[in-house]
Amino acid sequence: MNPSADRPEASPASSAGVRLALAADAAAIAALDVELFPDAAWSEAQVLEELSGYGRRGWVVVPAQSGLRPDAGSTRVEPTREVPAGAPSGPGDAEAVALLHERSLSGYVLMRTVGEVSDLQRIGVAPSRQRAGLAAALLAAAIAGVREEGAERILLEVAEDNAAARAFYARAGFVEIDRRPRYYRHEVDALVLEKVLGDGG
Ligand SMILES: CC(C)(COP(=O)(O)OP(=O)(O)OC[C@H]1O[C@@H](n2cnc3c(N)ncnc32)[C@H](O)[C@@H]1OP(=O)(O)O)[C@@H](O)C(=O)NCCC(=O)NCCS
Repeated sequence: MNPSADRPEASPASSAGVRLALAADAAAIAALDVELFPDAAWSEAQVLEELSGYGRRGWVVVPAQSGLRPDAGSTRVEPTREVPAGAPSGPGDAEAVALLHERSLSGYVLMRTVGEVSDLQRIGVAPSRQRAGLAAALLAAAIAGVREEGAERILLEVAEDNAAARAFYARAGFVEIDRRPRYYRHEVDALVLEKVLGDGG
């Protein structure tokens, strides 16, 4: 999660905050998703489902100056929990409205948790913000969140030819436990990775 000192072009994670994703973030997440996964992007409706369905939650990176989080100047990995996606009208509405004007997000992670297993559905960081520790901060927030829900391990699939993601997951402590041949549209295998959430996370 440490910002990389030798990559000055990337804004450091310390200038951003991680918070729980809201329904109002769906459009911005979908916009980033199509940029990062042009062949398999999720629509805004699909993202909304990922944010509001049973056991589903996400986290996003927002600029520190967004004004939504007074403490967002540091990379806090504790999500703001008061206004989850799909929450009924209430005190969170003002925050949700403010978010409608905050169109651009730097990164997101989407998780599905059922019982002791949490599936990492998506993680992505805007190309201009990569290698600044943002995905690591997102993953830390997600791990903290799914542990609270009872998850004991995280599973995901990654394309064998996605070197950046594989390096990221390896650094984060994921290990390969299986392979799905020709899983992706371009006939590339998927590697199934697992991270067991021990006492240290
Ligand atoms: C994979 C991805 C989310 C990583 O996001 P990121 O914010 O750049 O990652 P971080 O800065 O937190 O990286 C943490 C560590 O992971 C490793 N890492 C991340 N990207 C890497 C890359 N391109 N090459 C090698 N190692 C990498 C490094 O060890 C890095 O630490 P360092 O920068 O101090 O060396 C990002 O590359 C991305 O959005 N890719 C496109 C979407 C995607 O493929 N998502 C995964 C689908 S399964």
